[in-house]
Amino acid sequence: MMSGHPVAAQDGDMAEIDDAQLIERANDLFDPIPTEPPELDGNKVTPERVQLGRMLFFDPRLSASHAISCNSCHQMGLGGDDNQPTSIGHGWQRGPRNAPTVFNAVFNTAQFWDGRAEDLEQQAKGPVQAGVEMANTPARAVKTLKSMPGYVEAFGAAFPEEEDPVTFDNMAKALEAFQATLLTPNSPFDRYLKGETDALTAKQKQGLQEFMSTGCVGCHNGVNIGGQGYYPFGLIEKPGADVLPRDDRGRFQVTKTASDEYVFRAAPLRNIAITQPYFHSGKVWSLENAVALMGVSQLGQELSEDEIDRIVAFLQSVTGEQPRVEYPVLPESTSETPLPVE
Ligand code: HEM
Ligand code: HEM
Repeated sequence: MMSGHPVAAQDGDMAEIDDAQLIERANDLFDPIPTEPPELDGNKVTPERVQLGRMLFFDPRLSASHAISCNSCHQMGLGGDDNQPTSIGHGWQRGPRNAPTVFNAVFNTAQFWDGRAEDLEQQAKGPVQAGVEMANTPARAVKTLKSMPGYVEAFGAAFPEEEDPVTFDNMAKALEAFQATLLTPNSPFDRYLKGETDALTAKQKQGLQEFMSTGCVGCHNGVNIGGQGYYPFGLIEKPGADVLPRDDRGRFQVTKTASDEYVFRAAPLRNIAITQPYFHSGKVWSLENAVALMGVSQLGQELSEDEIDRIVAFLQSVTGEQPRVEYPVLPESTSETPLPVE
């Protein structure tokens, strides 16, 4: 299919698609995922930091039990999440929310479903300490890292100007640098944005058009197709308490402002087809049902089965090349390394 050549939709009697026009409109609203990490505020993505961050990401000894690593809930082979409704953490406890993917997370304006962490560096300090996640303390994490010469050396190489480089802050910086490299470029959608007109099927193009014209794009836009702003989940109609548990009031818990009740970050939709189940409660397993629910809850619109089908086809085109991450050999524990606790 040549650029600018109208393509008839495969199904239904939808209007013909003008690729040039559709690509231009889409480029006003979205950006492709870059192949290189962006510059970070107050941190540098050096090879040494990325390598250290990768070690930390896979090291279960950052958890009190020595059984849980970042990768337990953000699995590199599963789209950067765990495909669980809500994650299983310390002592087999289930946390209150679904784990979002760490892939492309560096492009979100803020981290977590409620945006309570400003960036990946701030975010990384959370899970290590969270009782239902890794249940550790900063002091114990630093003691663990200092007990292993392999880590002392790796922190020294990653933060060469610092006298005492093994700190909780630097752990977070290294984790941020590593995660900034977890990008999924070259999805069919991104190739289409760059002008490759046959990267999407006719159905996916229709779906893209509908994603824009029905208003999804009002909240899901930019490089991550979301992750940029906050909206009430249930702007028009509140979902049932199964999908929107009433005790999790979202951004209200961060700002204590009444208008922020049940407000959440518009979820980034990159790689959405492989990060089920959906929503912060993780209660919806099918992407079709998630799209249908969004139509009703955010737009007050009952989408037809065909519309849902085409929007889902479009959403399947935003799965990019998954990062190939080599599993690191981790530094050996020593007699100084704190032992695992229940
Ligand atoms: C959220 C990274 C450990 C479960 C996040 C986010 C990042 C991240 C970047 C935010 C993503 C976004 O908002 O788009 C890490 C790192 C970890 C780690 C670097 C290791 C230090 C874990 C573990 C679990 C877990 C062990 C499960 C036990 C979650 C959950 C959320 C989350 C449930 C969402 C929480 C909320 O929105 O309130 N993580 N994570 N993470 N992670 Fe992790
Ligand atoms: C979440 C798609 C319209 C705001 C989601 C999710 C999907 C989706 C698939 C789940 C993401 C995940 O679990 O990781 C769509 C589609 C739309 C649409 C296809 C159009 C039919 C909108 C609009 C808004 C919005 C118009 C804002 C008014 C949100 C929010 C979430 C979300 C806040 C997170 C909800 C939560 O807390 O779990 N969207 N969306 N969406 N969307 Fe939409």
